[in-house]
Amino acid sequence: MRIRKAEAADLPAIRKIHDAAFGGPAEGKLVAALVADGLDAISLLARLDDEPVGHILFSPLTVEVDGRAIPALALAPVGVTPAYQKRGIGSALIEAGLAAAREGGWAAVIVLGHPQYYPRFGFRAALTAGFQAPFQGEAFMGLELQPGALNGHKGRIIYPVSFGIDVSGPASATG
Ligand SMILES: CC(C)(COP(=O)(O)OP(=O)(O)OC[C@H]1O[C@@H](n2cnc3c(N)ncnc32)[C@H](O)[C@@H]1OP(=O)(O)O)[C@@H](O)C(=O)NCCC(=O)NCCS
Repeated sequence: MRIRKAEAADLPAIRKIHDAAFGGPAEGKLVAALVADGLDAISLLARLDDEPVGHILFSPLTVEVDGRAIPALALAPVGVTPAYQKRGIGSALIEAGLAAAREGGWAAVIVLGHPQYYPRFGFRAALTAGFQAPFQGEAFMGLELQPGALNGHKGRIIYPVSFGIDVSGPASATG
């Protein structure tokens, strides 16, 4: 399995991966919207024997800590083609994405996702609990790439418009 940066020409294959992984078009559409808006800060494609089998995207979102914006990313979506799940591809994409984010100088990553899955990468719901945000609860988690970036702070988390989040709630902000 190899992981490389996703390119414009990969978009149809990427949408196919998310359509299959999530069983619907919402996450693939989200990727297309984020790419169109230039918000695909980190976009990685996993390939197995030259076949695209997994994809992850991180986009900048506004995290205001004590009134000041810090460099933060939303992890959404990550998907692996169902036939290739549970072989470590999702974990490898998340690890590679977090390494790229750390290298890129980002301070924190926010995810809305499975509370049994993301803590193994260091995500904690407690780190987002002090923030005014469209989500709350155990599925809404944060990870610090720079120590102390989120911990104990209050502030606001605002997703880019491409996520289509409104008061009625999001369909596709999940990791
Ligand atoms: C989540 C996903 C990206 C993980 O990719 P993967 O390649 O299967 O993951 P890995 O092989 O690295 O890890 C498998 C682990 O993830 C866990 N996992 C997968 N889906 C899970 C879920 N919905 N809830 C909790 N844990 C889950 C598995 O139980 C397994 O745990 P184990 O290591 O303790 O056995 C993949 O299953 C997927 O595309 N799912 C559908 C889309 C989705 O739900 N995306 C994430 C939204 S939060």
